[in-house]
Amino acid sequence: IWNVDNDDMKKGEPLLLQEPTMWIRDNKLIAFPTETVYGLGANALSDEAVSKIFYAKGRPSDNPLIVHIGEKEQLNELVEDIPEVAHRLMQVFWPGALTLIFKAKPVLSTNVTAGLETVGIRMPSNPVARGFLKACQLPIAAPSANQSGRPSPTTAAHVLQDLNGRIDGIIDGGKTGIGLESTVLSIVEETPVLYRPGGVTKEDIEEVIGPIDVDKALLSTKEQPKSPGMKYTHYAPEADVYIVEEPKQFHSAIQRAKANGKRVGVVARELYKEADESFVVHSLQDLAQSFYYSLRLFDEKAVSVILVEAVSTIGVGAAIMNRLEKAAGGKRI
Ligand code: TXA
Ligand code: MG
Repeated sequence: IWNVDNDDMKKGEPLLLQEPTMWIRDNKLIAFPTETVYGLGANALSDEAVSKIFYAKGRPSDNPLIVHIGEKEQLNELVEDIPEVAHRLMQVFWPGALTLIFKAKPVLSTNVTAGLETVGIRMPSNPVARGFLKACQLPIAAPSANQSGRPSPTTAAHVLQDLNGRIDGIIDGGKTGIGLESTVLSIVEETPVLYRPGGVTKEDIEEVIGPIDVDKALLSTKEQPKSPGMKYTHYAPEADVYIVEEPKQFHSAIQRAKANGKRVGVVARELYKEADESFVVHSLQDLAQSFYYSLRLFDEKAVSVILVEAVSTIGVGAAIMNRLEKAAGGKRI
């Protein structure tokens, strides 16, 4: 474990990053913080390194990985062409929580693209992530650093809960800021298509490039998602999660669960004193940041029913409700 925080980064590239960087060149697995969630990084040019990611996470091999870069210039070596919309989006949102899907060049390990002709690329803004990526001087494939199917990790401790003993090292940069994964936007279609809502909102994107399409699978469970990862039951803790549409339902829902001998965790705008564990959130950003974090904390505290207050799907609310629907498997009260 290497402890490197954002203040260390302001003083220039810390010597501490040299060791994890060397390990990456040696095709080892290093977890690192980004502004969204922790990633599990490996050399994206090496089949051997990338296959270790799938093994450590228990990730289905048909689910492609996002490639992370430290400088925009690295993009030219990785993708076939950079459409005009991409330039405009990168200008505004890179570095940041926006993954763009391009047509891939064949240099990347085919394990990264899961055999697709496209690749998702992202340049994170977290200073520790950028310092690490720049020092590596390699494109780094990195999915979220959780066991496949579990909530994404927003702290180094959460990475270790799932992957201790299965990875080579971890850069601990503290709690991540956004708390949900990046937005995935495809720019290989005529009109760009939103595959996964995330830290950068649809509204933010449309302000820059005008109207975009939304993958139909985000609106209806009957459709096959364009992004392979979106088809899996994801983001689920051990406990049963329920979406609570009306805050006034909390009291009776908590009572019912407790009457059945369950320990209850609540994530809501107000404090419900009768719950065993609760997270009071004050804004959408706060809810995004606390979402995965609270699911894992509740698991540690042996909570068996989790009730989460629904929010509107405006702004980052779209990403929150997307993850909440999956964690709850659609169950609502
Ligand atoms: O915020 C994030 O994006 C984090 C941090 C570590 O950067 N990473 C992350 O990776 O969430 P992962 O592997 O958990 O999710 C990547 C998603 C999956 O749903 C995957 O199917 C999709 O992006 N994806 C990757 N490449 C794709 C491609 N070429 N076409 C369609 N979807 C793709
Ligand atoms: Mg993931």
